[in-house]
Amino acid sequence: MLKLIVAVDENWAIGKDNELLFHIKEDLMRFKKLTLGQNVVMGRKTLESMPKGAPLPKRNNIVLSRNELAQEVIHCRNMGELRELIPQLTGEIYIIGGENIYKQLLDFCAAAEVTKVQAQKQADAFFPNLDEAENWQLEEQSGVYNNGEVKYTFNRYINKKVRPLGELE
Ligand SMILES: NC(=O)c1ccc[n+]([C@@H]2O[C@H](COP(=O)([O-])OP(=O)(O)OC[C@H]3O[C@@H](n4cnc5c(N)ncnc54)[C@H](OP(=O)(O)O)[C@@H]3O)[C@@H](O)[C@H]2O)c1
Repeated sequence: MLKLIVAVDENWAIGKDNELLFHIKEDLMRFKKLTLGQNVVMGRKTLESMPKGAPLPKRNNIVLSRNELAQEVIHCRNMGELRELIPQLTGEIYIIGGENIYKQLLDFCAAAEVTKVQAQKQADAFFPNLDEAENWQLEEQSGVYNNGEVKYTFNRYINKKVRPLGELE
């Protein structure tokens, strides 16, 4: 079962100039708590956006790229390779971005952990609006947190019509 995790603003914006829009410590801690010891799947650009372009420590980093990768990660050259890899993985599998990878894998995910930040940012990368998506249903929502700079909520959406992995190509 695939899950995804993402932080969005009020327009479902997620990034600009290959960087995140937010650095909310509590959100990053939650991301770490959920993904530590698990598998994380990302696009090459998201890997490059990490500090020093390095894979996330203490996680099984799976990176999609049609080109060679210098970093020590599990490299999938296409979605077919990812499809074949998935049954061999143990633990949770989190899709962690970016826009391109989210869009290709969204239909195959069973759940989405969405941090909604109450802000409107300049952006060039977006996530599909799950509130307007027929198949996706909000299952759980936290109260509003306020870290002194921004307000945000943690939301879990469920996909009512998960596409079978066999269709991933
Ligand atoms: N807010 C959040 O939670 C969040 C999380 C993650 C990322 N982001 C943001 O998202 C933005 C990056 O998103 P992005 O869409 O530009 O890039 P991306 O999805 O991270 O990476 C795209 C790259 O992945 C590879 N790729 C995509 N589809 C593939 C396929 N089917 N097979 C093989 N390789 C494939 C290609 O790499 P090659 O060109 O090497 O072939 C492609 O250029 C940044 O601004 C980042 O900060 C936000």
